Amino acid sequence: MPSIPIAASPVLRLFAIVCGVTAALPLLAAPRSLAFEPYALPQSGSVAIAVADGAPMQGELAQLDAATGGAIARAIATAKFKGSQDSKLDLPGIGGYDRVLLVGLGKEAVTPRLLQDVGGMVAQVAAETPGKRFDLLWSGDQADAAAHLAFGASLGQYRFNRYKSKRRADGDDETSTDNGGTLVIRTPAGAAATQTWTTQWKPVADGVEFARNLVTEPGNALWPEEFVTRAHQAFAELPVKIEVLDEAAMQRLGMGAILAVGRGSVRPPRLLAIHYDGGGNQAPVALVGKGITFDSGGISIKPSDDLWRMKYDMTGAASVVGAVLGLAGRRAAVNVVAIAALAENMPSGSAAHPGDVITTMSGKTFEVMSTDAEGRMVLSDAVWYAQHKYGAKTVIDIATLTGAIVTALGDEYAGLFARDDVLAEQLQNAGKHAGEELWRMPLHASYKKDLESPIADLRNGGSRGASAGLGAHFIGEWIQPGTRWAHLDIAGMAWRNDAKPTTPAGATAFGVRLFDRYARDYLETRAESVRAE
Ligand code: BES
Ligand code: ZN
Ligand code: MN
Repeated sequence: MPSIPIAASPVLRLFAIVCGVTAALPLLAAPRSLAFEPYALPQSGSVAIAVADGAPMQGELAQLDAATGGAIARAIATAKFKGSQDSKLDLPGIGGYDRVLLVGLGKEAVTPRLLQDVGGMVAQVAAETPGKRFDLLWSGDQADAAAHLAFGASLGQYRFNRYKSKRRADGDDETSTDNGGTLVIRTPAGAAATQTWTTQWKPVADGVEFARNLVTEPGNALWPEEFVTRAHQAFAELPVKIEVLDEAAMQRLGMGAILAVGRGSVRPPRLLAIHYDGGGNQAPVALVGKGITFDSGGISIKPSDDLWRMKYDMTGAASVVGAVLGLAGRRAAVNVVAIAALAENMPSGSAAHPGDVITTMSGKTFEVMSTDAEGRMVLSDAVWYAQHKYGAKTVIDIATLTGAIVTALGDEYAGLFARDDVLAEQLQNAGKHAGEELWRMPLHASYKKDLESPIADLRNGGSRGASAGLGAHFIGEWIQPGTRWAHLDIAGMAWRNDAKPTTPAGATAFGVRLFDRYARDYLETRAESVRAE
């Protein structure tokens, strides 16, 4: 790639600018802005279309093939491109086009999730393609379908360029992460597509982006108070009530667990609650997220391999806040409160010791077996607070809680722990439709015995066995009878090493889309019947 030496050498760079080639040599893959335009076949430039498996040359594909004098049909035959799901055929410099990208739609019914994947695949190629515009041809006239393409594109082209000193080849705007180009979805759906995208889906995409940004921020840029500041900025124009508990407030409430986790750090803990009441007089659903801005393990310190990634240990908190950002942004008819339990888990002279006995807000005590089991600690006070302050009758907590869930489920499913079969099924369905899948795990009655302590009400771990289930059980000890509860262990899903169409490598913000789908399907539409206790 010549882009690196040109960027590095001022002389070459000047030469490149004079010759007008910098736009063709982007230093960084960067997102494009999204737009809808009426359906029409462009005669040049870069174009993408979706191709169904086994579909003969027809529609936009036939038109495009004719425009290239049959070159596309020959490329398809030579490459044996079938149009199966997740496949693509990338044809740079074909006919009069700079690039033609064919994306497989497969044989099955076209679902929102599939459309999002198509949008994501196209956007990822478009982000690497020079030129001001990149056209995605979509002959379908459904506004929803076009909006899902845009949603997927927005998710798939995500980049975090904040700390790249050279963001754009032309040295433009220091803070912009936009490459200045546009991804244009050409569809007969018309203005309805723009409307559906901007009012229904862009707010969710913004929630995902917000959460991914926070997760990607390193520990020297994001700590509990900074997380709170970022949330205040993001919600500045939205109809929510924000409550922040500092150490003094947590002390008054007796939140010994979150205080104990934060005690080893110079950056104090916070509890952040964002309440969006979009209607009805039902109790809010509480989404409670683990927000460890860095997990060193504390005195029970972790080994150093891959320790840098423990900046991601606040993904649950970022996802619940991102989800509510989306719900408030699209003015969803739901009543939800996001609670972020924020602390930095560090070893120091003031840190909690293994063996310490902690009194939580509920009055229940536990013995610290490992200071590295800090997620369940902060969540014990946070789920209690959700029930007592906000009167939540449904509590869903989400956390990068255990290494064991990664061993069990890898990066295809998050672990779902619940005693309420209805809530479990709803969340599983929502996950399937949103593309953030859950696998239900057991909460065996024996876990209670495994967590018995000789000197306190229980202990925070320590016994060998079903580590992910023990963590879940611990949190459940702070759920009152009559409260519906589910726990999502997302330790394997919050960070990806490889890119997928709607999740580039890195922070996924797992949970934002799942909660949004759960709200759409079970809180907004059938509000009364499902939520009435
Ligand atoms: N944040 C970690 C979970 C984690 C560990 C995620 C490894 C990804 C990879 C959590 O706070 C933790 O340390 N969990 C311990 C619990 C144990 C001490 C009971 C674990 O899973 O090892
Ligand atoms: Zn942790
Ligand atoms: Mn830990």
